[in-house]
Amino acid sequence: MVDTKKIVAIGGLGGLIAIALGMLVHGTGAEGWSAATSWTARWALIPFALVFATPGLLPRASGWFRELLRNRRGLGLSFALAHFIHAGAIVTLFAVTGGSPKLLTLLGGGLAYLFILAMALTSTNAAQRAMGRWWKHLHRWGLWYVFLIFAQSYGGRLARMGEHAPEGAFGLTVLLLALALRLAPKRQPAYLTEQP
Ligand code: HEM
Repeated sequence: MVDTKKIVAIGGLGGLIAIALGMLVHGTGAEGWSAATSWTARWALIPFALVFATPGLLPRASGWFRELLRNRRGLGLSFALAHFIHAGAIVTLFAVTGGSPKLLTLLGGGLAYLFILAMALTSTNAAQRAMGRWWKHLHRWGLWYVFLIFAQSYGGRLARMGEHAPEGAFGLTVLLLALALRLAPKRQPAYLTEQP
């Protein structure tokens, strides 16, 4: 199994690199922070999609990738850290532009952050034991809610058919692949493995 600290560090490092790239390519003003906001969300999508797809992906994975997926807790924490870096970029973006998010974004996205925080804080064996079946409820519904917010963000970008449509298409494709893997049968149906 890949070490948790390493996976979490990679999540954080990727988020910081996304911000640095935003600054390097677009400067330290509104444009740079807007890019940093988008790129941090894009980076966080990778560990999220892996965690979401793990139930169907793990039985089909091998080698190092399998060892990475086996540390689902590490991947979840990696996503949490990367996505809190997205939050940092959002706050800075609004500080630089003097704007503020729409109420609906604040409520919908804010609830997602509450779920992410609660899931990260309860990602211990002790919390899992203490919470019993509530732990499963929190982590299952939290994951689905974050999936919906990602899908809504990327779906909205695609539906508007503006300059951000390619990012929308990219994000939705990643999410739909993760969904298909999550829902895929764990074992191949007999007709696929039987000899003709
Ligand atoms: C209160 C909470 C949140 C606020 C205010 C917020 C705000 C923003 C803003 C302003 C951008 C666009 C930056 C730009 O293009 O100029 C953005 C991008 C994005 N956000 Fe957030 N966000 C929040 C929470 C979340 C959450 C919880 C998720 C996912 C679960 C998320 C996913 C995304 C995605 C997917 C993008 C687009 C990335 C891309 O272009 O590839 N956001 N967010």
